[in-house]
Order: sequence, then C-alpha cells, then structure tokens
Amino acid sequence: MPIALIVHGGAGDIKEERFEGARTGCKEAAQVGWRVLQAGGSALDAVEAAVRALEDNPDFNAGRGSCLNKEGKIEMDAGIMDGHSLNVGAIAGVELIQNPITLARRVMESEHTFLIGAGAQFFAREQGINPCHYEDLLTERQYQAWKHHTHSSLTYEAKTDTQQEKKQKHGTVGAVAIDSAGRLAAATSTGGIANKYPGRVGDSPLVGCGFYADEHAAISCTGYGEDFTRLMIAQRAASYAAQGMDARQAGEAAINFLSKHAEGDGGLIIVDHHGNVSKAKNSKCIAHAYINEQMTEPIADIF
Ligand code: GLY
Repeated sequence: MPIALIVHGGAGDIKEERFEGARTGCKEAAQVGWRVLQAGGSALDAVEAAVRALEDNPDFNAGRGSCLNKEGKIEMDAGIMDGHSLNVGAIAGVELIQNPITLARRVMESEHTFLIGAGAQFFAREQGINPCHYEDLLTERQYQAWKHHTHSSLTYEAKTDTQQEKKQKHGTVGAVAIDSAGRLAAATSTGGIANKYPGRVGDSPLVGCGFYADEHAAISCTGYGEDFTRLMIAQRAASYAAQGMDARQAGEAAINFLSKHAEGDGGLIIVDHHGNVSKAKNSKCIAHAYINEQMTEPIADIF
C-alpha cells in the first residue's frame, strides 16, 4: 500500500509574519511522521510523532505555545484514533502536560476512552508522565494575546464572539496518515480558543468532530470548535469518503456543509484509503504540509 501523511498547524487569518515559522514547523512535523512510516511504522505512531513535533513547537497553539483561558490558565485538549481497530483516546481540559497527544494515546491503550481535567492528570502520573511547569507551555506571544483580551474584560460575562473573533481565535494542530499495511490514523491537539471560558471544550478531543479515522479515511480538523462539534465535521468527511468520494471531494463536501450551516470557519486535512491526501478550508489560510511516495520531501504551504 502507498504510504502518505499530511499535517496541519491551524486555520484562520494567519498573520503574514507567522507564515515562515508555520511553514517550517509543518514541514518538520511532516518529516518526523514520514520517517516513522518509511521505517515501516504504523500510521498511529506516525500521527502521534508528527503531532508531538507540532506540540513542541512554540509557534503553534498546542502543547508549548497553547493559548490561555480567561483565568490565564492553559487547558489543553487532544484526541487520537486508529482507523483499523476503531480505538479512540482523548483528553480534555488538562494542565501541565507537555505532550497531550501522548496522554490521549495512553488513554486509548487503557480501559478508558476519554478522560478530563484532574482525572486525566492523575492518570498521566500513573502512566509515568510527570507534570511539566506552566512556563514550559507559556509563550510570550500567547501571554501578550491574553493580556490584550483581558484588558477590556476581567469577568466571565457571557459574550457572543463576533464573526471576526470566530475567525481569529482558534488554532489547532493535527496529522493524518496511511501506513504500508493500509491502516489509517488521525490525531488532533489544541490549546483551544484564546481567552476561552474555563472548562470550555471544543471539537479537537471529540471523536467525529475534531478527528476521525476508519477504513475509508482519516481526518483532523481545525477551526471554530463549537461549529465543528455540532456539525460533526470529521465524521461527516469520513462518511462522504465511505460513499465513494476521494479525499479532496470528501474534504470539500464536509467544509461546504460547514459553510452552509455555520458562521465559524476553519479547515481539515484528510487522507483516503488509496493514499490521496488533501486539505479543505473556508478560512483564509490553513498551515499544512504533506508527503507521499512520489515526493522526496514534504511540501508545506499556508493556503
Ligand atoms: N478547534 C479547536 C477548538 O475550537 O478548540
């Protein structure tokens, strides 16, 4: 079977000064995942490795570089799925975890499917994953963004995001891959949306919403999580693939559905069981990089 992999570093109105860092970070993450596939590793191992690289990169809103919530805390979400076994692992609202995607993977390999907050952190310790320091996750960019947000509002009042805010506040990372045995896998990790309400969870750790994988396709989403959740965008793309659409058609059909039923924007990456990779978006940009067996190195782009 042909091996292939695509990663993303978030969608939205990515500022031009961040283009180079996002392009390089996506390319490096794709190389990390690709090396796993080339060595005969599983799609699951490849997407976990690629997402870990994105989490470690402070330019992205996941792991180190995650955004802050209204209280100034960093609460992260992640989910991973093996399209062969249909096993899932997810965590939400976790603090002080360096690589949330690896914790999600450990959850997948346990009796659990989804752990949140303090329980997920307790489970991490049981697994030998020690907590990191807040400073290990915090970046100057996200701190300044938080200060800017909190300057005008220090309360938790229910305020509806404007359409412009819905386009700017999100960022997520993800990877999808197919391995030499034809197995598909998907992984997504995020700090969520900037200045989010404490305890708020978006689509990223919700199976079928921010990620999904089965025998037809694997999908990782990025965008305004509330809309991706209620419209179950990842599963929708997988079911379009199951109906016979290729990766490009299935991804675009799911994003067209999003555009029709939501104001929030975003995008997704997808690989189908033939090894076709694609991206789809209704936001201005989606940082991504992909590689397949016809290529010598990943192609990275922001659009
Ligand atoms: N898509 C990431 C989030 O809304 O949390």
